[in-house]
Amino acid sequence: MGPVLLALVLAVLAWGLVVGDLVRRHSPVWHWYLVRYPATACRVVCTWRKVAQLNDLSVSRRPPRGLLGDLVVKGDPLRPVAPRISFPRATRMGLTVIVRLHAGQTPATFLKAADAFVHAWKVHAVRVTSPERGIVLLTATAMDPLQRPGLATAPAELLSALIGVLESGGAWVMNLRLVPHWLIAGATRSGKSTLLARLITQLAPQPVALVGIDCKGGMELGLFAGRLSALATCRREAVAVLSALMVDMQERMSACRSAGVRSIWELPDKLRPVPVVVIVDEIAELYLSDGTRESKAEAEQCSTLLLRLAQLGAALGLHLVVAGQRVGSDLGPGVTALRAQLGGRICHRVNDPGTAEMTLGDLNKDAVAVAQSITAEERGVAVCTSPDGGWSRARSHLTPTEEAVATARKYVAIVPELPALDSALTAPEGDDK
Ligand SMILES: Nc1ncnc2c1ncn2[C@@H]1O[C@H](COP(=O)(O)OP(=O)(O)OP(=O)(O)O)[C@@H](O)[C@H]1O
Ligand SMILES: [Mg+2]
Repeated sequence: MGPVLLALVLAVLAWGLVVGDLVRRHSPVWHWYLVRYPATACRVVCTWRKVAQLNDLSVSRRPPRGLLGDLVVKGDPLRPVAPRISFPRATRMGLTVIVRLHAGQTPATFLKAADAFVHAWKVHAVRVTSPERGIVLLTATAMDPLQRPGLATAPAELLSALIGVLESGGAWVMNLRLVPHWLIAGATRSGKSTLLARLITQLAPQPVALVGIDCKGGMELGLFAGRLSALATCRREAVAVLSALMVDMQERMSACRSAGVRSIWELPDKLRPVPVVVIVDEIAELYLSDGTRESKAEAEQCSTLLLRLAQLGAALGLHLVVAGQRVGSDLGPGVTALRAQLGGRICHRVNDPGTAEMTLGDLNKDAVAVAQSITAEERGVAVCTSPDGGWSRARSHLTPTEEAVATARKYVAIVPELPALDSALTAPEGDDK
C-alpha cells in the first residue's frame, strides 16, 4: 500500500507542477491570483514590522529621552510601532496596501523606502502615492507588464494617437489637442523613430497635414513620404519648410483675428484650416554647425523658426513633435527655450543622467530616476507624461517597415493641400538649376 500511495502523491505533485507551469506561461494573471498573490500578501504582512523599522517608518510612542535622577538620558526609542496597514488587496497584476501614517509622519520617508519594499516583497516595482493627508497608498506591480504588452484600445479622436500601453495596462495616448507640443528623448536605438512611426501611422487616416523634418537623409520619415505634405531631408530644406509654415501661420492668425476668435478651433468648420503636425527626427542635426558663418546662420534661423512655431502654433493648429538624443544647451542657446515650450515629454533609455534630467527633471524627480533605470534590452520603453501632470512607464507598439509603407500608400489620397509648403520645397531646388 505504501509504495502505491507514494507514487500517487508524486504523480499528483508532478501534475500540479506541470499545470502550474502551464498556467504561469499562458495566463500570468490567473497565476498571479491563484499562486503568487497569496504568497506575496503573506510576505507583506509578515515582513511589515521589520521593513518599517529598518527604514525608519516606525515611531516610538515614548520620547527618545528620559530622566534618570537629575540626568536627561537620550537614546534610540525602545519598541517602535510600525504604522498600521490594511490587508493587501489584489489587483490585476499586483496589489495595493493602505498605510495610516503616525501623527507627524510624511509620505517622503515612504518614497525613500520604495526600493526596500520591492526587495522585501519580491515584486517588480512599488509606487508610493498619497491620496489624502495621513494616508499612503503602496501600489506593487508583480512583474513588468511592459515585457509582453498587449494591445490597448482608445477612442479615436482628432489629433489623438494610440501609441502603446502604459504600465498600468491602460492605453498610452498622445493627444495633441490636450498637449500641443512634444519632446521625445532617448539614446541611439532606444525607440524614438519607432515611436514617431507609430504616431504617423495613427495620424495618417485623420484630416491632418503631416510635415516631416528628417535630416538623417530622410531614412526614417521617408517611409511615409506619400502621406507627408512636405519632407525636409537637410537643414536647408528644413528652413524652407519652416519659413513656409510661418507664412501659413500668419494667414491663420489673420483668419482668427477677422473672425474675432482666439484659436482656430473656435472658427466655423468651413473656415477652419487643417491642423499641421511637424515631426522632427533628430533635432541635433538642425542645431549643430560646422563652424562656418553660413552654417551658423542657418542653425540660428532654424532655432528661431522652431521656437516661433512652438510659441504661437498651439492655438493655430500647428503642432511640433521633436525627437533627439540630447536636448541640452550644448546644441545652442535656442534649444533650452524650445524645450520649455514642449509640454509633453517622453524619455526613453538615456546614456547620461543629464538627458533624463533635462527631459523630465523640470516636471518630476521620481520620473527621472525611473527613466534612468530603463535598460538597453527594453527597446520602446519610455517614461511619458500625461496631461494631468502625472507620469508613467509605457511601451510603444512596434510598427514594422511594411506597415509604415502600406499606411503611407493607403492614405496618399487624403493628403491635405498646403500650397505654401509645396512651393517652399520646389523653389530652392529651382534656384540651384
Ligand atoms: N516599441 C518597441 N517594441 C519593440 N522593439 C522596438 C520598439 N521600439 C524600438 N524597437 C527596436 O529598437 C530598434 C531601434 O529603434 P529606433 O530606430 O526607433 O531607435 P532610435 O531611438 O530612433 O535610434 P537612433 O537614435 O539611432 O535613430 C528598432 O529597430 C526596433 O527593432
Ligand atoms: Mg531614429
